[in-house]
Amino acid sequence: MLKVAIIGLGNRGRIYAYQLSKNKDARIVALCEKNKSVLESKRVAFGLPQSAAYSSDKEFFAAGKLADAIIIATQDRDHFGHAMQALEAGYHILLEKPVSPVYEECETLYHLAKKKDLQVVVCHVLRYAPFYNAIKKVLDSGAIGEIVGINQTENIGYWHYSHSYVRGNWRKESETSPSILAKCCHDLDIIYYFTGKKCVSLNSNGSRKLFLPQNAPEGSTAYCLDGCAHRADCPFDVRKIYYGVTRYTIPKMIVNKTLVTGKPHASIKELKEALKTSPYGRCVYRSDNDVMENQVVNMKLEDGVTATLTMTAFSKDCFRRIHIYGTQGEIFGNDKDGKFRVSVFGGPTKTVKVGRLTALLGHLGGDRMIIRDFVDFLEKGIKNPRLSLLETTLESHKTAFLAEESRKSGKTVVKEETNN
Ligand SMILES: NC(=O)c1ccc[n+]([C@@H]2O[C@H](COP(=O)([O-])OP(=O)(O)OC[C@H]3O[C@@H](n4cnc5c(N)ncnc54)[C@H](O)[C@@H]3O)[C@@H](O)[C@H]2O)c1
Repeated sequence: MLKVAIIGLGNRGRIYAYQLSKNKDARIVALCEKNKSVLESKRVAFGLPQSAAYSSDKEFFAAGKLADAIIIATQDRDHFGHAMQALEAGYHILLEKPVSPVYEECETLYHLAKKKDLQVVVCHVLRYAPFYNAIKKVLDSGAIGEIVGINQTENIGYWHYSHSYVRGNWRKESETSPSILAKCCHDLDIIYYFTGKKCVSLNSNGSRKLFLPQNAPEGSTAYCLDGCAHRADCPFDVRKIYYGVTRYTIPKMIVNKTLVTGKPHASIKELKEALKTSPYGRCVYRSDNDVMENQVVNMKLEDGVTATLTMTAFSKDCFRRIHIYGTQGEIFGNDKDGKFRVSVFGGPTKTVKVGRLTALLGHLGGDRMIIRDFVDFLEKGIKNPRLSLLETTLESHKTAFLAEESRKSGKTVVKEETNN
């Protein structure tokens, strides 16, 4: 039985805790979360004694090694400090992405894990999702020959972007990560995972066009609920995003009630009240966001393979589209439909159906599978090749850092080889 501790019981930590509680080979033995009411609610839910629940990370790490492994699901800029302490204490780690917004910290963690002979698996959950698994199977079968290029598009969705990247936790680079790392490390990882080719050079452009103070319409207010004159016509009005159904929208961010209110089981009334003063209640034109809304990365990979990645806030839905070009055929699909097409040149076109239901599960089913793979790896020694270990992650994270270098300098950047 794998004993697991979790630090950070926000959206991600709670999902992993739930998945662990369903896994018969693992047991949650300790929790650390600074929000005391959330901590207490989860301590009770998982049947743990008071002594296993820590509201301070200092006290948690001072208690020594409490489990075989730890899940680190705190915010981006806390990962490094928490992971260093966890490795020093002797934990194997399931680490939320990004490893760190500072590349040198990613490398430091890698070297310490290697020295301590501990495993660090990074939560690149797409790898574990049935949609991407099915594509990988087709690629491995050789059906489309050798990969020549990939075009990947991350459509964040206007409502999701406004929640996370304008009002929320990933809006400001100095407090979190650039959006190409925060949102698209998954896409860069998938490109590396599918091609097996490292990026050798790239250029990148990005822009901020909409969520800027100069676009605030006359009559708009600092908070949507302050009596904004644009309630009816603004698609970002908090009522549409968080709780009120309209003819054209359903409030997709209603699932984030805990995040907005800070309460474990908030009611709609509490949500509405919180939105009067919470950062999530702000006018999207009057926030302090500075991350890119739109960015394109144009990559040259090893062996003449090419890849492009488009990240955009400006889509109706939140989904990814992938087009893989091979020497003998192509694969084309999007993950929200739960199916993709495989066309073999001079041969048939087949549609591979993964099922729309998986599209509704957390990260298309990837959240469940990553926990299963992580537990199987540590408890049974089963090393599924899709496990995204820290070593591989350094490669795809590096591409995101280079994309930022290129975007800021306006130049093509060439990747230097390192000896990790
Ligand atoms: N793998 C994915 O697809 C995916 C998706 C979304 C977010 N993430 C990443 O997961 C991480 C967590 O994201 P989230 O959406 O769950 O955020 P969140 O803000 O909901 O959760 C973070 C939790 O950590 C707690 N916390 C912060 N500092 C702490 C400390 N010092 N000690 C104890 N608890 C502390 C907070 O109170 C909060 O409950 C982020 O790094 C994010 O980038 C990954």
